[in-house]
Amino acid sequence: MIRAIAAVDDRLGISTDAGIPWNVPADVAHFRALTLSSNVLMGYGTYTEFANPMEGRTNYVATRRTEKLREGFLRVGDLRSFFTGGFEGDLWIIGGAMLYTTTLEEVEELALTRVAGDFACTKFFPPFEDKFRLGAEEVPPPVEGVPAIRFQTWQRN
Ligand SMILES: NC(=O)c1ccc[n+]([C@@H]2O[C@H](COP(=O)([O-])OP(=O)(O)OC[C@H]3O[C@@H](n4cnc5c(N)ncnc54)[C@H](OP(=O)(O)O)[C@@H]3O)[C@@H](O)[C@H]2O)c1
Repeated sequence: MIRAIAAVDDRLGISTDAGIPWNVPADVAHFRALTLSSNVLMGYGTYTEFANPMEGRTNYVATRRTEKLREGFLRVGDLRSFFTGGFEGDLWIIGGAMLYTTTLEEVEELALTRVAGDFACTKFFPPFEDKFRLGAEEVPPPVEGVPAIRFQTWQRN
């Protein structure tokens, strides 16, 4: 199955020009638990923010550049053929904004972490609510000094 996973604020913001503006350890753990042992696909912009590939996952990078990527990252130039047989097992689209937008049509399920607040983001998750329905929501216990979060799963209509 092809899924996307993102953490979004009240305006569907995902990052400022300086990167992701919140630090929520429970969301980091949630991301790890869901994506472990799967394939992950990130855009080149997100790739530049990773010092290393995420261990325990096959790390694909969407880019039209032909230069070699760092060790542990696999280049995907043609997303259409990738989606129709370029990987084995499950795939998580992990961002960023451009990749979420260009691949949303392929996505069957969304794992969204709703981070409470407006973080003055400059990059956004695309509008999705007309194409997906809320399937499940989990509200983890609040942690002092950390923004409130809700874990949601959305299924394609
Ligand atoms: N809150 C969250 O959950 C979350 C998650 C991930 C990332 N982020 C944030 O998102 C931001 C990055 O987003 P972004 O929009 O700037 O960059 P991005 O989506 O990570 O990467 C964009 C690049 O990906 C490649 N790409 C995208 N669509 C493609 C397609 N259809 N075929 C081939 N290549 C394609 C292109 O690379 P080339 O130009 O090399 O061809 C494009 O320039 C970062 O600030 C990061 O912190 C937030």
